[in-house]
Amino acid sequence: MDDNELIETARKYRERSYSPYSHFAVGAAVLTADGKVYGGCNIENASYPVTNCAERTAIFKAVSEGAKKIDTVAIIADTPGPCSPCGMCRQAMAEFHVDNVIMANLKGDVKKVPLSELLPYTFSDSDMEG
Ligand code: THU
Repeated sequence: MDDNELIETARKYRERSYSPYSHFAVGAAVLTADGKVYGGCNIENASYPVTNCAERTAIFKAVSEGAKKIDTVAIIADTPGPCSPCGMCRQAMAEFHVDNVIMANLKGDVKKVPLSELLPYTFSDSDMEG
C-alpha cells in the first residue's frame, strides 16, 4: 500500500461521511505496522460534541481489530490546501505511535509530515510511567 493508495482509500471513505450539520465531509485511512488498512469518515451528531472525526474513526477501527502500532494516517477533505488534522486527532495518533501523516485535498494537493512536526512536546504513554 503506497501513499497514493492510502489517499484513495481515504477519498472513498469520505463518501460515507455522516455530516448533516457541517456539510464538511472528511475521509481518512490508516496503515498499521502489520500492513493492514482501515478507512473512516467523520460521524456527526445532533449533540455536536459527540461528533467523531474521520481520523479517529479509522484509528479506532484499526485498534479494535487488534492493531497496536499505526505507521501512517491519511486525511482528505475539500479544503483549499492539504487538510490538516485537528488537535484531538493528533493526540489520538500519538497514542498509537503514528510516524507520518499524509494531508490531502480533492484537488490533489498532498503534504506528508512526521507526526512529531504536527505535535511537538507530545504528552504520551511514556509520561505516564513515572
Ligand atoms: N473533522 C474531521 O473529521 N477531522 C478533522 O481533523 C477536522 C474536523 C470533521 C469534524 C466535523 O464533522 C467536521 O469535520 C467539521 O468540523
